[in-house]
Amino acid sequence: MDRPSGRVLVTGAQGQIGTELVEALQQKHGHDNVIATDIRDDKGCQILDVMDKEGIEKLVLEQDITEIYHLAALLSATGEKNPELCWDINVVGLENVISAAKKNNARLFSPSSIAVFGPDCPKIAPQITPLNPTTVYGKTKVVGEQLAMSSGIDMRGIRYPGLISYKAPAGGGTTDYAVEIFHAALKNGHYDCFVREDTKLPMMYMDDAIRATLELMEIPLEKLSGARGGYNISGCSFSAEELVKSIQRHLPNFTCTFKPDIRQTYADSWPDEIEDDVAFKEWGWKAGFDLDKIVDEMIINLQN
Ligand SMILES: NC(=O)c1ccc[n+]([C@@H]2O[C@H](COP(=O)([O-])OP(=O)(O)OC[C@H]3O[C@@H](n4cnc5c(N)ncnc54)[C@H](O)[C@@H]3O)[C@@H](O)[C@H]2O)c1
Repeated sequence: MDRPSGRVLVTGAQGQIGTELVEALQQKHGHDNVIATDIRDDKGCQILDVMDKEGIEKLVLEQDITEIYHLAALLSATGEKNPELCWDINVVGLENVISAAKKNNARLFSPSSIAVFGPDCPKIAPQITPLNPTTVYGKTKVVGEQLAMSSGIDMRGIRYPGLISYKAPAGGGTTDYAVEIFHAALKNGHYDCFVREDTKLPMMYMDDAIRATLELMEIPLEKLSGARGGYNISGCSFSAEELVKSIQRHLPNFTCTFKPDIRQTYADSWPDEIEDDVAFKEWGWKAGFDLDKIVDEMIINLQN
């Protein structure tokens, strides 16, 4: 299949990932070749609701979009509060984007999540394992992975772990504590964490996630297996308590209390670690940031 050469569309561009992915895509393709869209209005971002099927198709055709990064979604914690809306935005919204991509032969990146795994998954999650998530959010991500293979287009995804970044706030997911904790530590010297101290989850620094996304989209389609709907990629795994200890290397007086809420049950249904041998074999994935390196970067950047 020939490499398309038109422009790039990003949906949900104002979010935690979009804020940084748009910058990286602009560097790669040129500022004017990247069209950033969201339902939220802000400088440089065009309004596009992914529920507006005709609006997406019009934009894709008029702007000759040949690569789409579809980030618009409701995340786990927000999604479970409004499961019907979560299904609509995450599944119907994705179907709308796929339909538009087909009309202009565009390639599509659509993120999956570690939320595809359920309690029956081994604690170190393999690439291939039954996907029985307990959350509606997780179910929408399983459907998204299946659509990647059945849609008939070049569609790829990554099962992102919890993403840690400083440029934009986390968007309503279960792993948000691993971002909020830094802001609270620097501002108040204290954080009330909504999961237990022994809660261990797969996490990743945003720089690694952006690099993984760009690297995956560089690989010729024929080199990718049926895993392309959602590749496991591993960053690093740590417990909430280990995160606190790592922050205390910088801020020795920082304190944290653990007051689990409903998000604890989502966290408990997910694996502790991710096996990413398939992503390594097929497109050379390797993470660059461990826990202490992530904490060092977060503290330095938030202090500036
Ligand atoms: N951030 C993480 O830790 C993480 C982990 C795993 C997977 N993901 C996935 O990555 C993708 C992006 O996540 P994020 O963290 O940037 O999310 P986010 O919540 O920070 O951003 C999502 C963006 O989508 C926009 N949006 C919501 N409804 C929309 C609609 N109808 N039309 C257009 N835009 C709409 C929101 O305004 C928001 O700016 C999602 O698919 C998410 O499931 C994220």
